[in-house]
Amino acid sequence: MIFRKNMLVFISLLFCLPYQSWGAAYNIMQYGAKGDGITDDTKAFEEAWQELCNDVEPGSTLTIPLVNTFLVGPINFQGPCKSPNVHFEILGTIVAPEDPSSWNGCLAGAWLLFANVEGLIVDGGGTIDGRGNAWWTKSLTNALHFENCNGLQLRNLNHRNSPRNHIGLSRSSYSTISDLDIVAPAYSPNTDGIDISTSTQIQIQNLVIKTGDDCIALNNGASQINITNINCGPGHGISIGSLGINGGYNTVEGIYVKNCNFSGTQNGARIKTWQGGSGYARDITFENIELDNVFNPIIIDQHYCPNEIHCPAESSAVNVSNISYKFFRGTSRSRIALNFDCSNMIPCSGIYLDQINIISSVSDEHTTAYCNNAYGTISSTKPSATCLS
Ligand SMILES: *[C@@H]1O[C@H](CO)[C@@H](O)[C@H](O)[C@H]1NC(C)=O
Ligand SMILES: *[C@@H]1O[C@H](CO)[C@@H](O)[C@H](O)[C@H]1NC(C)=O
Ligand SMILES: *[C@@H]1O[C@H](CO)[C@@H](O)[C@H](O)[C@H]1NC(C)=O
Ligand SMILES: *[C@@H]1O[C@H](CO)[C@@H](O)[C@H](O)[C@H]1NC(C)=O
Repeated sequence: MIFRKNMLVFISLLFCLPYQSWGAAYNIMQYGAKGDGITDDTKAFEEAWQELCNDVEPGSTLTIPLVNTFLVGPINFQGPCKSPNVHFEILGTIVAPEDPSSWNGCLAGAWLLFANVEGLIVDGGGTIDGRGNAWWTKSLTNALHFENCNGLQLRNLNHRNSPRNHIGLSRSSYSTISDLDIVAPAYSPNTDGIDISTSTQIQIQNLVIKTGDDCIALNNGASQINITNINCGPGHGISIGSLGINGGYNTVEGIYVKNCNFSGTQNGARIKTWQGGSGYARDITFENIELDNVFNPIIIDQHYCPNEIHCPAESSAVNVSNISYKFFRGTSRSRIALNFDCSNMIPCSGIYLDQINIISSVSDEHTTAYCNNAYGTISSTKPSATCLS
């Protein structure tokens, strides 16, 4: 049964009110979902998605109702859909199977994969729970991934305990991610909050991210990305990279990170590249950043080698240039608060430090700066980073 919302649309137009739910209203319960958290509801989701995606009316909505918990296995929400925008509204909770053996057939390494859907809205205030505990020794499957979903709006949701990355975007430009609460234990491995690659013109704002790995990671092909109002920690900070793995040509540019807090994180503003790669990370700004007991508040690590094995000296590197850090304040857990460990092959150039005040979170300790082949300019910077010039 489909309830047409034409009357509401008419009323909202009459009074010039924004009304986003055009089109038909689908409810997952109409497709035989139990919503008891025990029965496998995968089939209901697949069937409901088929109908939603085949609906030609713009803005038709599939609602996952409040109160209920839906157990679903790996699903491929495949487009293209027939309308220019579809709305997936999660009011309730979606949980993953607890037992990794029932995850067979997981496409593209993601539990919930949306692929080739234009103008997708995913919201509703509900929860996506990956129940990743059983996975944290294996770390293979991301929870929610968007592949080739231009114009995505992902907002107002809770994300819990992903087996691996909580949210991934690839080839999904002109998208907005906002008002999310992403939580996994500090000890859970590889549970990045958000990973972006091969996407441009992305706005990310108003997020609380507490996980065991990067709060946000910007990987190869990320460009023109604004990140504002993020509360990160525990976690590994906001990272550009890692770039240049296995000798790859990687690029990241036009990144603007503003008004973010890091609390108890391993890193604050980080750029990490492997030796032996090529390409560039450039035109990146971190501005108005608050730090509380952060191990590496500002770090460029061009000798990235997480397990410290098989990383001999290489003769090429990703070129890091035009990186600005403005108005940082707070405390560092390590002595080296400003760490610019650049490639011996290509110097980091155009590093700008302006109004930096980072003191130690350990009593009687002083903070310092370290530079290796890094060049730039400083203005009111504590600790002083004269090694840059
Ligand atoms: C990022 O912010 C800049 C300036 O504040 C703005 O011009 C640009 O359009 C924004 N980009 C996105 C993708 O939101
Ligand atoms: C960061 O923390 C300060 C208080 O220390 C708070 O005023 C501000 O709103 C926080 N910013 C974010 C993005 O939560
Ligand atoms: C450096 O990056 C900023 C953005 O962070 C950009 O506005 C500026 O044009 C860049 N400068 C150069 C010399 O490319
Ligand atoms: C690195 O990038 C900077 C800025 O674009 C450029 O001036 C420099 O020539 C590049 N270095 C190499 C080795 O390509």
